[in-house]
Amino acid sequence: MKVVETVAAMKAERVRLAGSVGFVPTMGYLHEGHLALARRARADNLTIVVSIFVNPSQFGPQDDFAAYPRDPERDLALLDKENVGIVFMPSAEEMYPEGFNSWVAVEGITERLEGESRPGHFRGVATVVAKLFNIVQPDRAYFGQKDAQQLAVIRKMVSDLNMNLEIVAVPTLREPEGLAMSSRNTYLSPEERKAALVLWKALCLARGHWEQGQRDVASLRQDMTSLIEREPFANIDYVSIADPETLEELDVIDRPALVSLAVRFGGTRLIDNTVLGG
Ligand code: PAF
Repeated sequence: MKVVETVAAMKAERVRLAGSVGFVPTMGYLHEGHLALARRARADNLTIVVSIFVNPSQFGPQDDFAAYPRDPERDLALLDKENVGIVFMPSAEEMYPEGFNSWVAVEGITERLEGESRPGHFRGVATVVAKLFNIVQPDRAYFGQKDAQQLAVIRKMVSDLNMNLEIVAVPTLREPEGLAMSSRNTYLSPEERKAALVLWKALCLARGHWEQGQRDVASLRQDMTSLIEREPFANIDYVSIADPETLEELDVIDRPALVSLAVRFGGTRLIDNTVLGG
């Protein structure tokens, strides 16, 4: 496994690669969810490239960029076991040199849900992902379904800007009790972690009602909200039932629907989702 730290070195490695390249962009502090992306990339491609870069431009002033968990040594040891070919670990100065001033804005779908709570977040995500795609030139890139809006934004960017690669969505990996794996789970106290199971319970409730024929969004949303509000540690940011591509809220579930949630537990904001139908 090669570890490269500059854009020039990554590009030089890329031209030497024959066969398909699968790319897994990450912000490090890897967990089983990231490794599942790498394994899927391994199954589909000859070479896997993983990037580890905590991207400052996707953190808002209220998000703590400095406190984002980091453990590069452990990350590299984990990736080594997954047969990763190249790890790209640039510095912030390498990705955003002095005078950097070009941004990718995917409009519309970035204004809702996460975009509403975290203004500027998706501009940072789209910009860094576009840069990484240009540097790594992958045939396929792998993203977790857990960040459903991020996935929709990246798909839209790739389609609108005619980028020449395939985006592959990988299902969310969960702890045995249902909590979606996330680097942010490490911030939770034991009580908050127990309380956070309500996310999965609320999604299961929505699925159960939908399977029994409930199609009225207001009623489903109300049932989920009441369940979450019974959990004293939980503070709801949003409960959304929307079209999975446009993220426009639905009134009636007459097509596949993305049910997504953002809930705070103490200082930690967690998201989760499920798709009904389709
Ligand atoms: O999902 C993430 O970890 C990040 O948003 C990504 C896609 C690596 C861009 O920084």
